[in-house]
Amino acid sequence: MKTVVVYYSRYGNSRIAARLIAKQLAAPAHRIEVKRRKGVVDSTFSALFGRRPKIKTLNLQPDDWDLMVIVVPIWSGRPATPLKTFLAETRLAEKQIAVFFTHTKTDPHKRPTRWMRKVLGHFGARLVTVGGYDISVKNHTVLKQRVWDFLAQFPPQAIPASPRKLEARRRTKK
Ligand SMILES: Cc1cc2nc3c(=O)[nH]c(=O)nc-3n(C[C@H](O)[C@H](O)[C@H](O)COP(=O)(O)O)c2cc1C
Repeated sequence: MKTVVVYYSRYGNSRIAARLIAKQLAAPAHRIEVKRRKGVVDSTFSALFGRRPKIKTLNLQPDDWDLMVIVVPIWSGRPATPLKTFLAETRLAEKQIAVFFTHTKTDPHKRPTRWMRKVLGHFGARLVTVGGYDISVKNHTVLKQRVWDFLAQFPPQAIPASPRKLEARRRTKK
């Protein structure tokens, strides 16, 4: 099973989580980048009104992956808007998606999960598992624990036998 990690991060929390996850899965990580960064007020409004900001194209082909791990912050109770653009511009049919949310007050297993399930269903993809980390906890050990809990729900074929060994092999190939 080919796994890829895709993340959006404005302040860096989701980036840290994405890197941890990618390392454990020995998977490549791709960052979603907006073409024009907006202020917090604009971002809040764009989240509230469901706008889609323009993003830079990611070099990702449908054959590159079977399972995509998306790491994204929650904005206004839903995944951050750059992810919406990414989902609309990516071929997702018959793919599996796992989502790890970074957040503060919103429970990622409620509205954000319902949103993801609905949107992915619309594109013919399947949401396999959801995880999350409350960034206000500000504790790297807790983040790691949330990541382990998340990965424990993955299909076994997505977990490399020994992630560290695979990672070491990947590095020596470069
Ligand atoms: C525009 C905006 C709206 C947000 N709305 C919510 C929200 O509704 N619920 C929540 O739990 N956190 C919300 N947050 C907090 C973010 O989820 C949190 O800062 C996020 O983990 C940051 O991720 P990053 O460091 O990768 O950008 C919001 C943050 C921003 C910037």
